[in-house]
Amino acid sequence: PHAHLTIDPHFTVGTIDRRLFGGFVEHLGRHVYDGIYEPGHPTADEEGWRTDVIELVKELGVDTIRYPGGNFVSGFRWEDSVGPRDQRPRRLDLAWHSTETNEVGLHEFSSWLEKVGSELMLAVNLGTRGTSEALDLLEYANIPAGTALSELRREHGRDQPLGVKMWCLGNEMDGPWQLGHRDADDYGKIAIQTARAMRQVDPAIELVVCGSSSAQMPTFGAWERTVLEHTYDAVDFISCHAYYEEYDGDLASFLASAVNMDRFIETVVATADHVKSLKKSDKTINISFDEWNVWYITRFENVDKIEGLDNWPIAPRLLEDVYSVADAVVFGNLMISLLKHADRVTSASLAQLVNVIAPIMTEPGGPAWRQTTFFPFSITSRLARGKALELKLDSPTYATDRHGVVPLVDAVATHDEETGRSAVFLVNRSADEAVTLTVDVARLGDVSVLEANTLSDDDIYARNTLDEPERVSPHANDTAHIEAGELTVTLPPVSWTALALG
Ligand code: AHR
Repeated sequence: PHAHLTIDPHFTVGTIDRRLFGGFVEHLGRHVYDGIYEPGHPTADEEGWRTDVIELVKELGVDTIRYPGGNFVSGFRWEDSVGPRDQRPRRLDLAWHSTETNEVGLHEFSSWLEKVGSELMLAVNLGTRGTSEALDLLEYANIPAGTALSELRREHGRDQPLGVKMWCLGNEMDGPWQLGHRDADDYGKIAIQTARAMRQVDPAIELVVCGSSSAQMPTFGAWERTVLEHTYDAVDFISCHAYYEEYDGDLASFLASAVNMDRFIETVVATADHVKSLKKSDKTINISFDEWNVWYITRFENVDKIEGLDNWPIAPRLLEDVYSVADAVVFGNLMISLLKHADRVTSASLAQLVNVIAPIMTEPGGPAWRQTTFFPFSITSRLARGKALELKLDSPTYATDRHGVVPLVDAVATHDEETGRSAVFLVNRSADEAVTLTVDVARLGDVSVLEANTLSDDDIYARNTLDEPERVSPHANDTAHIEAGELTVTLPPVSWTALALG
């Protein structure tokens, strides 16, 4: 098959917000304990952080990191996690049936973020708690000095405020599994009350109201409309969450997962703009896609259950998906979908970062390594600069059970006016055929291929594991070349490719 693409740097979708390359650290399984934090590990620094993990997080290129949950946050008491460590309570974590020791809390995590060079995005608990506790946390975090909670922060060793800009108003409140789950009206009421109060403390903050936990939720659409009708004036973002997996060996549908993400985004944008017109508002609500990934939830539902009144383990192995090449291709395509919507998706968080459905894995006392999904994230984060471009793509199509007839090739391009550089991100969703892609690059001027990386493998289920941590990595795609303003590149079956042009 053959596909064709035309790139014109003048046809822009929007400026790419660096927050699109965000991450997410939840107190869940071995994410924090035995993941990023492992005192006694040969690479641990004086604070107990694994420096091998810090280096990998830096290489991954994550911007804002959402914390501390996830489902965890809906039962979290933030004040447990600050102050002298030996006095911090051990608590039941109902979301993951674990014990939270609070050894790592707000101050420690902020210090880790400084080491990895990322910004904090905090979620408040609107599950078991409400406006008052959210205000307390905001005062503790952002007020410089002179009040009870700001002084408490200073007593705890942090003189300067944390200056947290982005705040999530709870987590997945539409989900029956969520502690304090509410219907859209009840959530909308607590969310607006909390949002207004938080703005009275710090008008500079940006607020994310909970959208649906997935586009498959029975309340999807109606939830967004109702919640935004309550909160429109006081929030900046509505969240989207989506996880994809291969169901029952249906590879064709799985490879087209990004089609679902495209439609999800476009539906939420339409709903937000509908409420905008109802409100006769000048303000536009954008999307914070603050949980996205490939996640074999079906597998997790059958395997990972922890039960028992006397069984609340610390840092159990949970949600430790091991990703294949096919998973990484879908993952790369999800990033393409986010970039294609860069005008309205201005923040996103890969869920999650280490050990828990993560691009980085660790073994206690042992190595840290890159999963297959690490590569599309790190390369996209490094190369996608400036503006996302509207492309003219002619691609053959194929039929899927879940998403209908979809294009075989998906693509997005970016262009950075400052450096004059462009990047093209591509997937070939065919399970068995290579696609020859030609790209009209004449409008980019006299450019050459600076870099061409492809992730593909004869075994699309190959993975990186403790025993073979470097089994899969991207390879240089030597087929990429430009002749007379036309770029040609061969995209192997089930592949993800990134090209840098300049
Ligand atoms: O990322 C794992 C979990 O997925 C999060 O805790 C929750 O918000 C979502 O359901």
